[in-house]
Amino acid sequence: MNDLAGKHIVLGLTGGIACYKAAELCRALIKSGATVQVVMTQAAEQFITPVTMQALSNRPVYDSQWDAREANNMPHINLSREADAILIAPCSADFMAKLLHGRADDLLSLMCLARPIAEVPLLVAPAMNREMWAHPATQRNLAQLAADGTVVLGVGNGDQACGETGDGRMLEPDELLLDVIAFFAPKPLQGQQVLVTAGPTFEAIDPVRGITNLSSGKMGFAIARAAQEAGAHVTLVAGPVQLPTPRGVTRLDVTSALDMHQAVSAQLDRAQVFIATAAVADWRVATVAEQKIKKDSAGQMPPLQFTENPDILAMAAKSPRALSGALFCVGFAAESHDLLQHARAKRERKGVPLIVGNIGPATFGKDDNALLLVDEHGTHELPHASKLTLARQLVADIARRRQAVH
Ligand code: C5P
Repeated sequence: MNDLAGKHIVLGLTGGIACYKAAELCRALIKSGATVQVVMTQAAEQFITPVTMQALSNRPVYDSQWDAREANNMPHINLSREADAILIAPCSADFMAKLLHGRADDLLSLMCLARPIAEVPLLVAPAMNREMWAHPATQRNLAQLAADGTVVLGVGNGDQACGETGDGRMLEPDELLLDVIAFFAPKPLQGQQVLVTAGPTFEAIDPVRGITNLSSGKMGFAIARAAQEAGAHVTLVAGPVQLPTPRGVTRLDVTSALDMHQAVSAQLDRAQVFIATAAVADWRVATVAEQKIKKDSAGQMPPLQFTENPDILAMAAKSPRALSGALFCVGFAAESHDLLQHARAKRERKGVPLIVGNIGPATFGKDDNALLLVDEHGTHELPHASKLTLARQLVADIARRRQAVH
């Protein structure tokens, strides 16, 4: 996807073994539509060559404040003025200390100091040994950098090049890419608590069998990601699916409808928006057999008795916070036909302000979808697109509805 189309990013490399990951990051930024100008410190050039970075970014690398290629001999001004953001990855402990003091004795630090602070955000992806990371000086510097308006991206945990294990690794290129995309996204849900259910449920019959459905969870996971990009704190209650957790999202894995009901009930008091995308089983087997059920002598399976599951969405929609407008509930309707008619009826039945209809068999497991938004006034179509694109449109729509209420 062209999530970074039109963005021009100065990618700064400072000294650290994580420079090798900056090559992948450069590619990933460009694949997402950005243009990238690489600037390297002398220490960075000990780890990876400017030739590599030039080839990947398709632009000459800058590494000196005395670069005569610029007509006015001011690369720190020229390069920083055209950037939508400066991203330093890896950012060494030493470079953070320099930034903190406003030192400017190499092109990259000079450029950071010279950038128009309100227009050119500075993002840093620290990378260092775990002891250096944990050192009070580093932590103090990080806090002050954040207070000065620098966006400090996190660090990874795990094996380090030095042979030690702990916090301080640079985030992986794909993680950094997602953080940069999220950074540029509009923030209409800033600070809000959003609760999302996703995926199917699994209703056990016996220890080896159960009833489930074809929901892949992809739409719900995309919505969780879009809400997180929009600035929300997102909790995702996920049925049994193998999808990766969207970055920055808190995930609670559940199996059955009763588990999902319990998890949602425990989270609902804090939520301002609840989006129920899960395909929750309407029924569960009344008594789960403790042992595997065997065929009888005639080859028949004994009949199963079913009990109705709680309707999680209807429960949320009836809560005092939903009724007072403090909680905005959104339901999904996966239908096979007569989408509008069924979605309208479902909106009434569940008591929610907004139902999102889609054709289940056309979208289950796929990466794209088309949505029909049904509210008290009528309908609004979100035409066929990727689930992430639709999720972003839906989240923006929900944010507008909430702003209209408050
Ligand atoms: O009734 P139906 O399953 O068609 O309704 C779909 C909507 O209701 C979805 O938003 C789904 O997540 C939610 N739902 C629920 N709990 C149930 C059944 C459905 O939250 N037990």
